[in-house]
Amino acid sequence: MWNNITACSLWRLSPSFMSSRIQILTPLFIRNYKDFCKDRQTIWTLQNSLCQVMKKTVPTLKCNMFPHCFASNKARYGQYTKTFPVLDGSIPSVCEHVFEENLRNSEACIQRYSELLCKVSKGGGENAILRHTQRNKKLLVRERLKMLLDDETFLELSPFAGFDLPYGNVPAAGCLTGIGKICGVWCVFMANDATVKGGTIYPISVKKQLRAQHIAIQNRLLSVYLVDSGGAFLPLQAELFPDQSHGGRVFYNEAIMSAMKIPQVAVVCGSCTAGGAYLPTMAEETVIVDKIGSMFLAGPPLVKAATGEDISPEDLGGASMHSKVSGCVDHFASSEKEAFECVRNIILTLNYELPPEETLEYDDPLYSAEELLGLAPRGYNYTLHIKLILSRLIDGSRFQEFKAEYGTTLVTGFAHMEGHLVGIVANNGELTHDASLKGSHFVQLCSQRSIPLLFLQNTAPHASEPTSLSQAEDHTNRLKAQASMMAAVACAAVPKITLVIGGCYGNESYAMCGRSFDPNFLFLWPNARVALVDSRHISTFPQAGDDDCTGDDSGLKYLKEKLDEESSAFHSSARLWDDGIILPQNSRKVIAQCLTIMKQQKYQIASRQQYPVIRM
Ligand code: COA
Repeated sequence: MWNNITACSLWRLSPSFMSSRIQILTPLFIRNYKDFCKDRQTIWTLQNSLCQVMKKTVPTLKCNMFPHCFASNKARYGQYTKTFPVLDGSIPSVCEHVFEENLRNSEACIQRYSELLCKVSKGGGENAILRHTQRNKKLLVRERLKMLLDDETFLELSPFAGFDLPYGNVPAAGCLTGIGKICGVWCVFMANDATVKGGTIYPISVKKQLRAQHIAIQNRLLSVYLVDSGGAFLPLQAELFPDQSHGGRVFYNEAIMSAMKIPQVAVVCGSCTAGGAYLPTMAEETVIVDKIGSMFLAGPPLVKAATGEDISPEDLGGASMHSKVSGCVDHFASSEKEAFECVRNIILTLNYELPPEETLEYDDPLYSAEELLGLAPRGYNYTLHIKLILSRLIDGSRFQEFKAEYGTTLVTGFAHMEGHLVGIVANNGELTHDASLKGSHFVQLCSQRSIPLLFLQNTAPHASEPTSLSQAEDHTNRLKAQASMMAAVACAAVPKITLVIGGCYGNESYAMCGRSFDPNFLFLWPNARVALVDSRHISTFPQAGDDDCTGDDSGLKYLKEKLDEESSAFHSSARLWDDGIILPQNSRKVIAQCLTIMKQQKYQIASRQQYPVIRM
């Protein structure tokens, strides 16, 4: 409405009046209207329509006048933020022993992290790699990504998914997912690793693909599928076929994403059998690689068994057949390299209008990120003040704290991460009644101002039991306040990132935007522990019908061991309860990257749901 009123009133002014007054009016107007507008998209729309009006009214006026005016305002605005107070991040000498203990624990966790990463990077092992490259003449999945993406610095998601599961070890769940840039556009990719059991789909592979699609939907990112898969892993068919969030959901999502104007491009760069054949056929545009790409509902062995006929994969469902006869694909490529070039060309036809690349100016934190290893708590009792961590993550260690003196077991405030403004909600003790109310208020504030939220989670390992009536009353009040915070977090209409820096325990973790509260991204530090309660804090094992719960020693021991094993960050990441483990010293970079990625959706085409692109 403001847009229309402004444009109309400007139209009524005569050109001579406009040209004489425009220089005076513009800065004044911009200042008022900047106060008025909350989001930059509105500013841009208004700016454009004003430019159009002025172009017609004052032909001599240069249309870049407004961008210039905004740019200078923005620069000045940016300078003001440098006045946020600087945090004191020096580690008190009384805390040195805790720091040392944490450091030792972090080093052990990082050692495990590195060993696992090394294992995962080998995919299905040496023999499978030889079969893939020598016999089947295919590129390895990471080589494919290198050719497809603008550069190698992509954000890989959940590389430890599939590690040590009850049904075996499935390196990276047999499928690499992540976010990288193609032709300057951030894209989600899903690429089968056919060295892992022919790229067949395990239950964890389905979960990983669904998560990648969810990220694409939530952040409105175009998706690229590199398909090289023998379809369902048959021995586990019951765990990946029939249910709502099993295999078919991937195809359902493809249609829904297309209807939401989230484009999807596929490359058939290997065998795509059965379920594997639907994925590329349902994509909006598909490329197939000659000689190595094939698609069929049942392969040559099944044809032989059913009809006695001998047929080659090429004749049954090769590149020529699908591009010339069936129409299941749209582009024929004579090599993998050509196929990835074709994908890049397709992306150039998506009609994206991205703003020029922003070069944000920012200061590094004043304290070393390496020291985060000594601040990553090995247990709740080894937690140091959260501001010591914050001062190593945020630009210039500058923090505009909100309600500094109230509910101090939760720290809330504004800061910048590589130039991006972010609202931070960080545990600094138990989520008390006051802390929860403060959290609710702050989350709503960020939602109101369209500022992304970053949750630094380190929740209490168990709920303390009330020992008096007044304490019980206190607990009830706390419950009510935590419920309010949960509602505020669930409904905050801004992107959210959760980083578990210590414990992710029990109900408090929901209010701190745990997985079920749908953060856009959730990462863990390697020292993180995820469980309903901390095994180190249980002293009794409740038995059925045992009124006083004195416990049974062997039961308690078993429960503690089980909890201990299931609490590790690696156990969580293997099951895709998160988007991956990141090293504390890389956190700032990863979070800033996520903030950049999440910003892209602001500039995309209208999101109104319509019809998907249907292959004819
Ligand atoms: N379920 C379970 N295991 C499968 C499988 C499936 N659908 N497809 C392949 N595998 C296994 C193979 O048994 C083999 O296991 P091994 O390494 O323990 O020997 C491994 O995956 C690799 O298969 P292989 O055929 O040697 O490799 P390849 O790269 O030359 O060929 C395929 C891969 C996928 C093209 C081929 O195995 C194939 O056509 N599989 C059948 C696909 C199918 O019919 N799917 C229907 C699913 S509903």
